[in-house]
Amino acid sequence: MGLNLAWPEPVERVQKLAESGITHLPQRYIRPPQERPPSSPSPSPSPSPAGVPVVDLSAGNSMEVMHCACREWGAFQLINHGIPHIFLSSAMHASRGFFDLPMSEKQLYANDPLTYEGYGSRMGVKKGIILDWGDYFFHHLRPLSHRKQHKWPANPPHYRRTIEEYCSGVFELCKELLSMFSEDLGLPKSRLVETFGGEEQIGLCYRMNYYPECPQPELTLGLSPHTDPGCFTVIFQDDDVCGLQVKKDDVWVSVPPIPKALVIILADQLEVISNGIYTSAEHRTTVNKERERMSLVVFCNPDGEMKIGPVQEVVAAGGGKALYEEMSFNQYRQLIRTVGIKGKTFLNSRKGS
Ligand code: OGA
Ligand code: NI
Repeated sequence: MGLNLAWPEPVERVQKLAESGITHLPQRYIRPPQERPPSSPSPSPSPSPAGVPVVDLSAGNSMEVMHCACREWGAFQLINHGIPHIFLSSAMHASRGFFDLPMSEKQLYANDPLTYEGYGSRMGVKKGIILDWGDYFFHHLRPLSHRKQHKWPANPPHYRRTIEEYCSGVFELCKELLSMFSEDLGLPKSRLVETFGGEEQIGLCYRMNYYPECPQPELTLGLSPHTDPGCFTVIFQDDDVCGLQVKKDDVWVSVPPIPKALVIILADQLEVISNGIYTSAEHRTTVNKERERMSLVVFCNPDGEMKIGPVQEVVAAGGGKALYEEMSFNQYRQLIRTVGIKGKTFLNSRKGS
């Protein structure tokens, strides 16, 4: 399948639109009524008891809570995760600093749909699609051979050092989570790290999302419904503004920020290797009229070339039938990037009959 090298339309920065003071959304951001978020009176967090499970890594029951969260939600909030708060707040500050730069400097990093690395405002190259109300910056961290630090923002001056430090903390956490997932699936602890290509080849990508204030938040979304393509995702969100939602039993449930917590979203390759015992969570973001929002997202991905399919022991324990076709992550990601994100349709297309 050929891939266009250029965006199909001139790219507009949502930040620029927001700062221009428009009072009505341009047509291409307006979603059909059934895709709009319910209008909520307040963007402030109000945790509901029936929300996404909270896993406390320092508590004795963390494995049990995680066990259910991975099967029923495909998502959980993680507290006492061991990453010092100063790493989180510094990463947030450095990331926000990029979006505070003059537009002319940000534009030096404008991305293209071949690699997505750099400053972006859309996903997918399909002409005429409805756009999301958000800008982002995307770059690779691991494997080290994929890291091009000169393509990371040069400013603010502490950006590279700060994000490096934050993400090495996240990488340690990723390995710990993969070991917990292995154990929970009845596998040797090192099994998932191996299945995803080994410590040196596991991928880590960073994406900072910036969702500016929006004149008509009830008509649009910050990020369209999607599942993440890799293994799982670690999100640090602004601690005083809501936006992230996870779909559970066909209902969108808000994931209100818990200060210092990380949100873990299981992604498609974990659903595949667990043969559907784990579910990848469909998620989206909403935006606000009075408040901008930022999220720092680290994607943990398998090695690009290895074929990924259901793990043999898990298949055997479940009756012997593998439910997903094998495919390399590079193939899978290319497919998604060509068409754009669209709920859970890609993963479902990988299911055999
Ligand atoms: C993503 C994502 C959620 C958020 O970047 O894939 O789901 O809260 N972000 O911004
Ligand atoms: Ni996502």
